This record gives sequence, C-alpha cells and structure tokens, in this order.
Amino acid sequence: MPVINPNMITISPDRMKKLGVSAVITNAYIIRRNSDLRKKALEDGVHRLIGFDGPVMTDSGTFQSHVYGDVEYTNSEIVEFQRSIGSDIGTILDIFSEPTDSHTVAKEAVEETHRRFLEAKNQGEMILSGPIQGSVYPDLRRYSASLMSEAGSQYLPIGGVVPLLESYRYSDLVDIIINSRLNADFSAPLHLFGAGHPMFLGMSVLLGIDIFDSASYVKYARDSRLIYPDGTRDLSKIDEFPLWSPIHDRYTVREMFSLDPEKRTEEIAWHNLFAIFMEISEIRERIMEQNLWQYVEGKARAHPSLFKAYLRILDHSRDIAQYQEISKKSPFFYFDGYSSMHPSIQRLRSFITDISKNANKIVIVENDLTRIQMPDQSVVREIYNRSDQTFLFPWNSFLVPVELKDTYPVQQIVGHFLGQEEMKASIDALKEEGREVKILSEVADELRNAPEKRDLDLQEVRMIADYQFGEGTGMKMFPDGSVVRRSRSTSRIRSVSYGGEILATLRPHDGFFTLSFSGGLRLREICGKKHSVSVSRDSADYNVKGYNVFFKFITDFDHEIIAGNETTVLDPDGEMVAVGKATVSGREIGYYKSGVAVKVTHGRESGESAENES
Ligand code: GUN
Repeated sequence: MPVINPNMITISPDRMKKLGVSAVITNAYIIRRNSDLRKKALEDGVHRLIGFDGPVMTDSGTFQSHVYGDVEYTNSEIVEFQRSIGSDIGTILDIFSEPTDSHTVAKEAVEETHRRFLEAKNQGEMILSGPIQGSVYPDLRRYSASLMSEAGSQYLPIGGVVPLLESYRYSDLVDIIINSRLNADFSAPLHLFGAGHPMFLGMSVLLGIDIFDSASYVKYARDSRLIYPDGTRDLSKIDEFPLWSPIHDRYTVREMFSLDPEKRTEEIAWHNLFAIFMEISEIRERIMEQNLWQYVEGKARAHPSLFKAYLRILDHSRDIAQYQEISKKSPFFYFDGYSSMHPSIQRLRSFITDISKNANKIVIVENDLTRIQMPDQSVVREIYNRSDQTFLFPWNSFLVPVELKDTYPVQQIVGHFLGQEEMKASIDALKEEGREVKILSEVADELRNAPEKRDLDLQEVRMIADYQFGEGTGMKMFPDGSVVRRSRSTSRIRSVSYGGEILATLRPHDGFFTLSFSGGLRLREICGKKHSVSVSRDSADYNVKGYNVFFKFITDFDHEIIAGNETTVLDPDGEMVAVGKATVSGREIGYYKSGVAVKVTHGRESGESAENES
C-alpha cells in the first residue's frame, strides 16, 4: 500500500495501478485537520478525494501524535471520521511505543491500545485494524498479538517499528514479527507499518507479513535517493540508471539533475515505486515456487544487518518448522553449515536423532568420507539385508539412514557441503556414546554369506512412513507380506500393496506417500485421531464423494498435522469418509473460517480406487 498524502499527491494512485498497486493507504488525521479535504472527503468519500477506486486504508494520526506530540482528536472521533469518509480499513488511535521505552511504559501502551480497540469496534462495516505494539519486548508483542486477536481484530498491523527499520535493526524486527505472528489469529492479515524498502520485504514475508505500507518511495525521491532491490543510491553518486528502471531510457543522470525539483521528485518516486513493486512481484513468484526461504538466504548477504537478521531467523528454526510444509516443490539448496539449520533439515535431524537413539551398532555406507555420494544400491542391499544394524550414509554435515535416501530433502538437494569436521565429530560422538561404528567394507566380508534377515525395500517404506506419520507407524502400516513395487524405468519405489490392495504410492518428486483409501483406513486404525480432521455430518456427506474439506466444517482436528501431509477425514461417528492432503499445519487450522483445509484425494464413494490411480 503506497502512502498517499492527500495534501500532495506526487504520483496519482490511478497511475500506480500500472505497477500492480491494488490498495493504498492515506491519513485520516491529515484529511480531518484540513477543512477543504475534510469537506470533500465527507461529501465524496475518501476514494474520490484521492482518486482511487480500489481498497483504501486510512491511518489514524498515531504516527503524527508520536512525532509531533498529542493530536487534537480522541480515538472514537478519529475512528468515527474514518467511517464517515468510507474508508475500507480504518485504524484506531493506537499508542506508538519507542524501542527505548521501558517494559512498564510499553506494557501500558499495549493495554491502552487494546482498550481503544474495544472502545471503537463493532460500529459499522469498516474493517477496523488493531495494531500490535510492545516495543522490542518479545513477551509484550506476544501479549499484544493475542489481546488484539481475542478482541476480534481481523486486520493486524505491527506498529512502532519505523525507528527499527530506519536504523537497520532487522534482527529485532525478526523477533517482533515472529512473536506477533505466532500469537496472532492466523486468519487475520499481518501488516508491517512503515516498511517499504525492498531489502527487507522478502524476509518479512517469509516470517508471515502479508501487507506493507510506505511513503519511502516519495520521501527518498525528495532527497534524490534511488531505491534498488538491495539498497539505496544517491543520484549524485551514480553514473547511469539501471536497465530495469522505468526512467533509464528517458533521462541521463545529468538530465535528471537539470529537471525542476518537483518533476525530479516525481520521476525518482516512480523509479522507487517500480523497484518496490518489482521486488513484491519477485516475492510472489518465489512463494509460488516455494523457494522464498532460499531467496531470503541469498539476499541476506546484501547487508550485514540483514545477515544478522537471517541468523536470528535460524534461531527460531524449530518454531518455524511446525508450520512448514512436509516438502517443497523446489529443490533444496544446500550452501553451507547454515543450511543445516533450515526447518526442513531440523525436522530430518530430530527424526534421525530419535530413531537412532537405540542403535548400538552402526554401519557407515561410505568408504571415503571426502566423496559424498548416494550409496550404491546393489552392494548396500546385499549387505543390508543380511544385517540388523543401522545403516547411515554421510550427507552434507551429518549422517542419514539409507532408507531415507529418496525422501525430501535428502534426494531433492542441490549442492553438497562437505562439513568434514562436523561429520567426523558426529561419528566420534556416536563412538563416545559407546556405540560400535564400522564402515561398510569392514562388515561386508563377514556378512556376505550370512542368511537374509530383512528386506531393504520393506524397511525403506516403513522408515518413510515413520518419518511421515510418526515413529512406529511404518511397521503397522506395511506388515510382513506387504509388496513393494518399483518402477521399471527409474527403479524407484512406486507403490506398496497388501493382500492385492494398494495402500500407498510413493510420490517421485518428494519421496513421501500418497495414501489410497485403504491406506487411509490403516492410518486411522494405527494413529486414531492423529493426522485427522473431524467434520460435520453435512460436510462428511460431500467429502465421502471426493469433495474437498472446508475449514468452516471442521469440528475437531489434530494440532500436530503437518502442512501438505496425508490427513484422514472423519464423520461425527469417527468413521473415515475420505483421505487427502492438509493445506496448512494443525497449528493454523482452527483459525481459518473460509477456504479449503483438506484437498481430498479419495472419498469412500468417489469411485476412484487406489488401483485406478496406480
Ligand atoms: N505508522 C507507522 N507506525 C505506526 C504505528 O505504530 N501505528 C499507526 N497507527 N501508524 C503507524
């Protein structure tokens, strides 16, 4: 939302539409103080006043009161005014907390802001935004986010952050955004007040920000400063305009200097707005490609403050992992030791730690630690089937069970980071814990003629099921007698059946299972209500035919559901009517009121049998 100053419109909101601007923000306090603007806004509405027919948000004067001292209107008056001028999203007169405020002062501001929201809400159609304050105190941001959410605010701006943005305190912002997001209503959009520099937009979107507003495009332009995706440059210090700039083929830098100041401001503001929307467009693309994290990781190197902020995100990796999809459609880029702190890797690591805690004998499937590659199937299989030990292979800086070699993110990786020190350290740690660690070649001769004890294929599908659905699931889901079928062309696992019935197919792109209806029934039997949502009778009658599950019909759900994972759909009697994929994590499901919660793949009566699918 570009900020439109109603007193001085540098670029008309209508022209902004060319860049994809679909909503703008203006200031109700400024409009109300000026008798001409006030009259026109009351008569014609705020949309006509600024010349924009899309959604218009209005701010309340909080920032002015913060900068210039008290404003002359009360909270109720300014909210009422915003309603009278037809604002789509109005804002209460929240209390702006400074980063230097004491905890006590910041807490009072949070509580007073909450009180003002309650005072002003429920008086009309306008969406009323309830800002989250709390200065730099994580506990206060959490407190404020839950107070505003409980009060029913359907639109949540994060306030009091302009001083942090201006002084590049991005790592503090990371804490503020994460603490706010994780304690707020997930169905309410989160808006970062005053953020508009492309440097930080991707990172904030990664953390859950949906909307920004900023006047930076015009403020910088007034000082002849140009915004770039990675920073800002002074007009006096550049030789040429970048090729992507909409002004590059219209002026030379020298010509730009000779323009009259007002025209120059307008032209640079246009360039700046273009740079911001170019970045927003890139971020949207990255969301679609599911590789925003990697984009942010790369961009973090543009400035040490951003890098510090990225490291702060990694500190929160375990929290974030609870909301991450089970896999991404983009490959996983492994750059260096920091990559191992990515939430997907953290999830893998904690699974491996859990399953190998009782492994007393470990075989490392790799003769040469400097040559990291996937284990050779036939040799490994021959020895593996005759052993009952845990087979691990070196993968980047740690050891991964051979059974998971085709599962996300192990297989979907691009780039290999040797991390030999870490690898040696993890082998030494295993030895220090009293476990026997041998290399495959050391056990091969002894085992080659031993009788077969197990089957790598079956063990592999069981381990994947354990990783996907929880430890101990695999053995029950795929008991002895299950048949594992491999693709003839790629020799990768395709499906698992039991008693002639297909239970699951393995997705080639991420190495996880899609369950058939029978597979879903098994999951229901083994895990009870884990991995399930319960729905109303009306919904169940549709879902049974293969139609998707909507959030609003869910009556109960497993809070640990992993986004994108297989999920069973239960009717009010607990009978499974369908199986499908959860669109979001179990931590979020309860918040949403509209949209698809489970994309159903098989309904009991959908006529789509697992055999057909295979
Ligand atoms: N604009 C920039 N920061 C803020 C804030 O904290 N509150 C409001 N209402 N507007 C802002």
